[in-house]
Amino acid sequence: MSFRLQPAPAARPNRCQLFGPGSNPKLFPKMAASAADVINLDLEDSVAPSDKDTARANVIAAIASEDWGTKTLAVRINGLDTPYWYRDVVDLMEQASDRLDQIMIPKVGCAEDVYAVDALVTAIEAAKGRTKPISFEVIIESAAGIAHVEAIAASSPRLQAMSLGAADFAASMGMQTTGIGGTQENYYMARDGEKHWSDPWHWAQAAIVAACRTHGVLPVDGPFGDFSDDDGYRAQALRSATLGMVGKWAIHPKQIALANEVFTPSEEAVAEAREILSAMEDAKARGEGATVYKGRLVDIASIKQAEVIVKQSEMIAAH
Ligand code: COA
Ligand code: MG
Repeated sequence: MSFRLQPAPAARPNRCQLFGPGSNPKLFPKMAASAADVINLDLEDSVAPSDKDTARANVIAAIASEDWGTKTLAVRINGLDTPYWYRDVVDLMEQASDRLDQIMIPKVGCAEDVYAVDALVTAIEAAKGRTKPISFEVIIESAAGIAHVEAIAASSPRLQAMSLGAADFAASMGMQTTGIGGTQENYYMARDGEKHWSDPWHWAQAAIVAACRTHGVLPVDGPFGDFSDDDGYRAQALRSATLGMVGKWAIHPKQIALANEVFTPSEEAVAEAREILSAMEDAKARGEGATVYKGRLVDIASIKQAEVIVKQSEMIAAH
């Protein structure tokens, strides 16, 4: 056990991140009125190259004009492999109102990608006298991103969240699929003539969670493309929550309630966690470090497991 304590991530709900193209301002009021915890106005891959300038202007205007309530308000800039990203950062930092909370950097491949954006943001913050520090979130969506995930998680004190971007990740890895997240037809084990589907995203998700938890960053599951498939979305989100992720993207409003449902600890889960804590209090009073709860072992580690659920529930309720 390291003597260093694991740093706590930002204490804010991040159950659902709702995306909308910056080139489609009709969606902005609907996004602002939604039940998503985080809003991601997109300048990147949902915006055609010919619309980049207009989208940037739309987004800057909407940051000031819409009522975003208490949501975390983020803008996804273009990747560092494009000619657009520096203008995204400069215009946002020089022109967007103080309501802007966060910049999302896509396709991050190494810690220096974050460093580059941090340098620019830090200089403009100082030049413009912006007093509210802008936070970052990144998307891991390439082979390089997952290979360097731990260094990326440690790259900047601005970094609050990290998402897995399934589509670009699959392409970069050379995966034989066009599906965006979820079950993939050809990823199965076979036994006695039956197929048992497995999870091709599991390794990348677990790597992201480990890197994030080491460095106090919120791990988030990315998009689920088939927005007609509620069961598939829910199953993917439940797996992500079980692995330690705190939320998932919505690319259509119908996915918001699903994410909020899965990533809000259920009343039953919180009640059970509280019972475990109380059973351990009783054990402690008897001078015991382990006891039996509902026929199974609970011990001092169970306190930490139960506290994850109780604290998450209390943090969400406090917002
Ligand atoms: N945010 C808020 N509202 C949205 C929305 C979004 N992302 N996407 C759709 N809506 C609204 C529509 O305007 C419509 O509203 P209405 O009932 O008032 O007319 C309603 O939800 C139903 O929309 P629907 O007709 O089912 O979808 P669509 O064909 O209008 O749009 C998409 C489908 C996928 C093009 C659209 O959802 C979208 O642009 N999603 C985000 C894409 C994105 O940002 N990608 C980047 C991240 S991967
Ligand atoms: Mg992407």
